[in-house]
Amino acid sequence: MPDQLFSDRVSILEYFHKHGILVSPQALNIILERSMGSLIPRLLSQEVESAGYIDDKTVRKLIRGEQKTERMDYEVNLPDIRVNSTVEDFRKMFVSRYEKLRKIVSLSGTMRGSMDIRTAKKTYGEVKIVGMVSSVDVTRNGHKRVLLEDMDDSIQAIIMKDKGLSNELIIQDEVIGVIGSVSRGPGEPVLFPNEIVRPDIPYRVIEDTGKEPVYVASLSDIHVGSKTFRKDDFRRLLNWIKSSDKEAANLKYLILSGDVVDGIGVYPGQEDDLELINPSEQYGKLGEYLSEIPEDIQIFVMPGNHDVVRLAEPQPYFTGKLKEIFPENAVMLPNPFNLKLEGKNVLLYHGMSLNDMIELVPGANYTSIGKAIEEMLKRRHLAPKYGGKTPLIPSPNDYHVIEEVPDIFITGHIHSHYLGNYRGVRYVNSSTWQSQTDYQKMMNFSPNPSIMTMFDLHSRSTVIKNFENP
Ligand SMILES: [Fe+2]
Repeated sequence: MPDQLFSDRVSILEYFHKHGILVSPQALNIILERSMGSLIPRLLSQEVESAGYIDDKTVRKLIRGEQKTERMDYEVNLPDIRVNSTVEDFRKMFVSRYEKLRKIVSLSGTMRGSMDIRTAKKTYGEVKIVGMVSSVDVTRNGHKRVLLEDMDDSIQAIIMKDKGLSNELIIQDEVIGVIGSVSRGPGEPVLFPNEIVRPDIPYRVIEDTGKEPVYVASLSDIHVGSKTFRKDDFRRLLNWIKSSDKEAANLKYLILSGDVVDGIGVYPGQEDDLELINPSEQYGKLGEYLSEIPEDIQIFVMPGNHDVVRLAEPQPYFTGKLKEIFPENAVMLPNPFNLKLEGKNVLLYHGMSLNDMIELVPGANYTSIGKAIEEMLKRRHLAPKYGGKTPLIPSPNDYHVIEEVPDIFITGHIHSHYLGNYRGVRYVNSSTWQSQTDYQKMMNFSPNPSIMTMFDLHSRSTVIKNFENP
């Protein structure tokens, strides 16, 4: 039947009436708003015929099915993050970090011909080495002194205070390539760097495919159970997700990047800030909210420092009773994790190390967190400096190395909202669903709550939805 016959209320109602089916006013409005003429015969499923009516939910389901030409397309290979935390694991983790990052640094054309430190020490003229920064300090004369190590040897590099590299930010434990010359005197050879090469993100052009958008949305730091959890804003968000809004219909993947509940015992006196004292009640309430999300939206959940799993990273994914509270369309992930969605790399990290990065990166702060995020990407590592405020567990594999270039990088933890683009990597610090806490008040920090960021997997476009009560 030609589409135009379904362009008005009467023809649509007549068509369904002939099949003995009633259409709800909301369903009819969506059909008309979205000019769904050609799809109408497809609404006559067996399910609809036996129910005898079509409501807005049925129509939305069809819209989603149409727009999501491919079914859910994601890859989750959960790593084995059981660790023993022995001294040997600690050593292996640094070896893993060094080897993975050395390979990435060596991909840079300028590093062709690099050598190990032992060979460099015996070489005349220009040398190229890849080393892990074992320490950084300043000499009495104001020059920067960096101790670099590889698998067999180490060398001291001096960055002269009045030379071009003097302002270069060098972080302990990061892996860098250095091009420079070695000076040999009576003591140990010293390296004078002319250029520092970071693993970094290669420049890329992101092509717009022109396809209908497929959105992955990021919600972080929901903190269900806290007295300051913004229930009304979260309700508005859920209602919007369930609505017939075109952007909501194109939402296919939803990421909850940690601190999904407020937990208990995270800081002294937290009980006074809790509406739901028991974490199982907090997760239960979250589960109730998530069960309202249409089942054709795939949810991914990872823990943060408020969740009731091991605090030290990599944090394990929820299992057992904890997993059971989540609806069937939710997949549990560890923190951090590189999720493949429709062929794209979506890097997820709750973001605890951002506290350390704020202290290390000049100009980075809670409201301008982009600088800190970009310094992580440049170093291809989620916690470049070992330790600090970031609890890390020594494991034979360093899961914080950013091995694959992300298309999208989603992080959270600090409750600000910051959307940026670094060499084609779209990144976000994902807001929060909690009002200002007493601690934040003390730190003079105002969060940007109740914002959901959506990334289109088919183009460069992003959508920011603000659900904050005006
Ligand atoms: Fe957090």
